[in-house]
Amino acid sequence: MQTRARLMTGCCLIGGLVMAAPAHLGAAESKIAELRAPQELPPGELGRTIQLGKEIIQKTNQHPLSKPFVGNALRCSSCHLDAGTDPTAATFLGVATAYPAWSPRERRVITLEDRVLNCLMRSMNGVRPPNGSQVSVAITAYISWLSSGCPLKMNPEKPLGPHHVRPLKIDVTRADPEQGEKIYASRCADCHGENGKGTDDGPPVWGPMSFNDGAGLAENEKLAAWLKVAMPLGDAHLTEQEALDAAAYVNSHPRPHFELKDHLPKPERLGEYNAELIPATGSP
Ligand code: HEC
Ligand code: HEC
Repeated sequence: MQTRARLMTGCCLIGGLVMAAPAHLGAAESKIAELRAPQELPPGELGRTIQLGKEIIQKTNQHPLSKPFVGNALRCSSCHLDAGTDPTAATFLGVATAYPAWSPRERRVITLEDRVLNCLMRSMNGVRPPNGSQVSVAITAYISWLSSGCPLKMNPEKPLGPHHVRPLKIDVTRADPEQGEKIYASRCADCHGENGKGTDDGPPVWGPMSFNDGAGLAENEKLAAWLKVAMPLGDAHLTEQEALDAAAYVNSHPRPHFELKDHLPKPERLGEYNAELIPATGSP
């Protein structure tokens, strides 16, 4: 009798069996690779709102509800691959269990909704939608649903879910953008363009239609860790040094500059912006 399910949803790995793990993955990585999104939506309006949130995450720069708040050519799923259900690339699985959380950047305890709105201001170079707006609630409902059945865990140190992208183990000051240029030309430019402005096969990675310099990926260390597990798309194979070099090359180009005041809605639509200190850069 099988008392423990092999494929666990959300973040519920405790007790999960790991079978047929790919040989190149360590035990912890194999477990994460086993994570799966829940299959069934709840009935009624809640299910429809979750579905709407998923559509917005997949078409953020085009969907009529989110487009007015987006300032670049990206979608949430440009970085949260497979609408956040890819278990390794900035996954949304289990994320809702980590909130409320202390955020060193805002120097406040923030909610999951706050965290979503911050990614719109920085990674999407857009304007913060009002708390409680339809777009904000739909996205947050979808991300919450992806943690169905998982136990809550208080997060007193930083706002990150249980399966966040792991930092690289190498010295990030030893990035070589010249090596990165070669890696970019041979393994990235086909999809993202020689000029970084994107092609039909990949979104812009620098320039005016990319994420701004207040986004997490604008930091070489975070971009490198994400590239290691996410790029080239469908064939992530870079070594840690290659990921770091490629990150340094990508981030050596100009991108929009983040000034908080340019990313807040009109005061009457702002509500309470849950923050005391917001430096220009920091985690997304
Ligand atoms: C340019 C890339 C990029 C884009 C676009 C982006 N994000 Fe993120 N986001 C990140 C990274 C990187 C993290 C850090 C996640 C990690 O370390 O696993 C993050 C973190 C988050 C978190 C917190 C995750 C956690 O583990 O607690 C949420 C929620 C989130 N993003 C929502 C969104 C939403 C919603 C959108 C679209 C409106 C979006 N993001 C667009 C890169 C991006
Ligand atoms: C086969 C095409 C392909 C290759 C090769 C590829 N990417 Fe991507 N990349 C994509 C696509 C497509 C996305 C968006 C993911 C999605 O929408 O599912 C993406 C997303 C990204 C993002 C986050 C979104 C953005 O545009 O800022 C970065 C950064 C990135 N890639 C960098 C790289 C780097 C660096 C390399 C080379 C090491 C690389 N990619 C190789 C197709 C590719």
